[in-house]
Amino acid sequence: MEPVVAARADWLGEALGLELSGASSLPLTRRLYRALRSWVQSGRLASGARLPSSRRLARELGVGRNSVLDAIDQLVAEGFLETRPGAGTDVADLPFDRTAAPSEDSSRDPPPAASLSARGERLLSLCGASAGHHEAFPPGVPALDRFPDELWLRLLRRHQRRTPVAWLDYRAEGGVMALREALCDYLRLSRSVRCRPEQVLVVQGAQQGFELVARMLGDPGDAVWIEEPGYGGVRACFDASGLAPVPVPVDDEGMNPARVPAGHGAPRLIYVTPSHQYPCGVTMSLPRRLALLEAAERHGAWIVEDDYDSEFRYGQRPIAALQGLTESVRVIYVGTLSKVLYPGLRLGYLVLPEPLVEPFRRANARLHREAQYPVQAALGEFIAAGHFSRHVRRMRECYRQRQALLRRSLAPAVARGLALSEGQAGMHLVAWLDDPALEATLVARGATSGVTLSPLSDYYLEAPGHPGLVLGYAGTRDEEILRAGRWLAEEWLSLVEGQEASLSAPP
Ligand SMILES: Cc1ncc(COP(=O)(O)O)c(C=O)c1O
Repeated sequence: MEPVVAARADWLGEALGLELSGASSLPLTRRLYRALRSWVQSGRLASGARLPSSRRLARELGVGRNSVLDAIDQLVAEGFLETRPGAGTDVADLPFDRTAAPSEDSSRDPPPAASLSARGERLLSLCGASAGHHEAFPPGVPALDRFPDELWLRLLRRHQRRTPVAWLDYRAEGGVMALREALCDYLRLSRSVRCRPEQVLVVQGAQQGFELVARMLGDPGDAVWIEEPGYGGVRACFDASGLAPVPVPVDDEGMNPARVPAGHGAPRLIYVTPSHQYPCGVTMSLPRRLALLEAAERHGAWIVEDDYDSEFRYGQRPIAALQGLTESVRVIYVGTLSKVLYPGLRLGYLVLPEPLVEPFRRANARLHREAQYPVQAALGEFIAAGHFSRHVRRMRECYRQRQALLRRSLAPAVARGLALSEGQAGMHLVAWLDDPALEATLVARGATSGVTLSPLSDYYLEAPGHPGLVLGYAGTRDEEILRAGRWLAEEWLSLVEGQEASLSAPP
């Protein structure tokens, strides 16, 4: 058990107060003695922890000082506490493993089994089993080893020092204006997004943005079109908000609204990744974009455009955001800093159509609260001063090279038929397989060889999904890409050759 009090027992008065508040027939001194002794024995009070003075304890507990002194004297006499004249009372350094000593807690009933709501159970079922997290090849992780932390720390320190006192309070204005302005400039210029800074709502990551959209615009049971295959994070979010995700097939032009499965009502939301479909990597064609906008108008639905990693394009010209293609107010643009900077930053943003600006700002401040104003201010300067675009350029080059390394290490497998996605953009490649058993075997072997292989079939809402592997390379150092890539190529070759041999063997 973690010691509750490490060096100073500052909270002891309050903790004892709680302990003594229950009914008991024992005299007060005895109850005080018992509580203190069990906390020393169980390790809740660490060796050397200084007790508050008896006067202070008596005052905080609202009891006579003699009761406290009697309990302490008894514990000193028994060796649990030590007093040094003029120095106070400390917990003794006891010669046994106090964490193994029976604690008062161990006599209590075992904690009740978690009884989750039906929604909680469903959410857990969408979390997937943890297959471990190895350096190669988790999807969606940026090059954390290349993050400019010195510069970032300098900015953070400067903005922390300058933080106005008001920023320490609850805020409800949509985020730091300097950051919203910087984001707005960036989005207008590089993504052709139409926006004013006031339309930008800063949230704690894209996921929180999806959550807000789901709660503000969807009611339980409302249909939401999602891409099939698609991003599991958003699926879990919609599902947990009580919406009914409808899988709409993706082909080489992106989500195809002409192939919505029959039997679902009009969608309330349509979630898409048009710049770089996740995970297949296709860019949505112009006819599809127009068809999607038309479908949204017809159904009175909102399009949620997730532009999570469009900064990373290799050779291809940047593709303008869907949001900028239309005068319609039906597109909510969602961006994240998780891919360009780092996921632990937990900053993302929504560009809201005008009618949604006020309702979303107020609801977000109520539901999630606004966070990290000094960090937002540092990020605003990071973008406005050009560090952001420099970092994007460096990462683009880094990811281009890392992808080339991955391709090189997989070349022997590709020569024998392993199909890889084009990889014109983004942070991962997809290896298409044609056999679900092959996918399962490779994923399992990867888990025991320190290689995270994400099964493509998991990205489908409806079974059976197409088998394959999603191979994130951006966050994997070069030498590890080579090691894990070669390992994968060898495994794939040996499995495929084994299959061929068994097919050609005489019956
Ligand atoms: C398709 C997609 N959208 C959005 C995100 C970003 O989410 P967040 O900003 O919550 O980290 C991810 C991260 O993995 C993603 O893969």
